[in-house]
Amino acid sequence: MKVAVVGATGMVGEVMLKVLAERNFPVTELIPVASERSIGKKLNYKGKDYTVVGLETAVSMKPDIALFSAGGDTSLEWAPKFAEAGTTVVDNSSAWRMDPTKKLVVPEINASALTKEDKIIANPNCSTIQLVMALNPLHKKYKMKRVVVSTYQSVSGTGVKAVRQLENEIAGVEGEMAYPYPIGRNALPHCDVFLDNGYTKEEMKLAREPQKIMDDRTFSVSATAVRIPTAGGHSESVNVEFENDFDLAEVRQLLSETPGVVVQDNTATNSYPMPIFAHEKDEVFVGRIRRDETQPNSLNMWIVADNLRKGAATNTVQIAEYLVENKLI
Ligand SMILES: NC(=O)c1ccc[n+]([C@@H]2O[C@H](COP(=O)([O-])OP(=O)(O)OC[C@H]3O[C@@H](n4cnc5c(N)ncnc54)[C@H](OP(=O)(O)O)[C@@H]3O)[C@@H](O)[C@H]2O)c1
Repeated sequence: MKVAVVGATGMVGEVMLKVLAERNFPVTELIPVASERSIGKKLNYKGKDYTVVGLETAVSMKPDIALFSAGGDTSLEWAPKFAEAGTTVVDNSSAWRMDPTKKLVVPEINASALTKEDKIIANPNCSTIQLVMALNPLHKKYKMKRVVVSTYQSVSGTGVKAVRQLENEIAGVEGEMAYPYPIGRNALPHCDVFLDNGYTKEEMKLAREPQKIMDDRTFSVSATAVRIPTAGGHSESVNVEFENDFDLAEVRQLLSETPGVVVQDNTATNSYPMPIFAHEKDEVFVGRIRRDETQPNSLNMWIVADNLRKGAATNTVQIAEYLVENKLI
């Protein structure tokens, strides 16, 4: 496979190269792609140096697959050009996610919807992926009515500039700001831009994407997204109301039998998910599973995952693996 990684010098791109190598994706030729600023830079992949090229050059090299994580504008402009050249694009930005002609895929849930005709495939938002990984098995069994989610999101979800802002603040150094306020010792109820309805774009991604991935519009999701000064992963406090009642032991059993989900839930041993445990792992960790005692058929839980791994790079590479295994590229 001739594989282009678009945004190879960024936070997600760097992890993408790591995940491709770890999972032994059948790369015969790697094409690292970034902005004009990075053309000519060397990136190491499996012990070999590769030179970063620009988008124009990458399209002309006709890769079999292009894994995009270079922002929405780059995807909107360039993904169709790659697709026209015969390349299958898996895109991490929000550019194509809600386009009805594009599939939005979490492989454990809906990879079977993919066909050879899908030339631009969307990877969901990082906070959506970890949420649906835990919700999907429970929805199948108990049928969800409403989900209320509050996120505690890592600065790594914003990109290199935000991680640098936090590092500068810790070191007491003045530098470029990714956020309108300091992030150290703070919590910003502001992820992505504000929309006319008073929600942020991140909150609306959490509200809309699960319905598309799970191909079901009978449940609703209400979200508040908050940025906090962690680096290892996103956390989510989730309240779910089901049509049907459940048994807590059965919920834990169902989640622990779900591929890609790990239950960490023992209050007697202080066992619960945290970003420091999830960091650099591919699994989605679920804990603090308890009945919401204020209304029937309702559950509270706490979900944590590494936003750069399952929330971005790993999910993208899993989609690519599915395409290869099923001869869709
Ligand atoms: N961070 C996460 O947890 C996460 C999760 C899911 C999805 N995403 C999405 O993934 C994308 C990248 O996020 P990130 O966190 O990796 O950001 P980042 O660290 O800022 O990296 C951005 C990457 O895109 C490249 N780029 C920027 N403008 C470009 C252009 N005009 N042409 C070609 N390449 C360009 C940059 O190249 P230079 O180094 O040359 O500037 C860099 O490689 C975004 O769309 C984001 O929404 C991020």
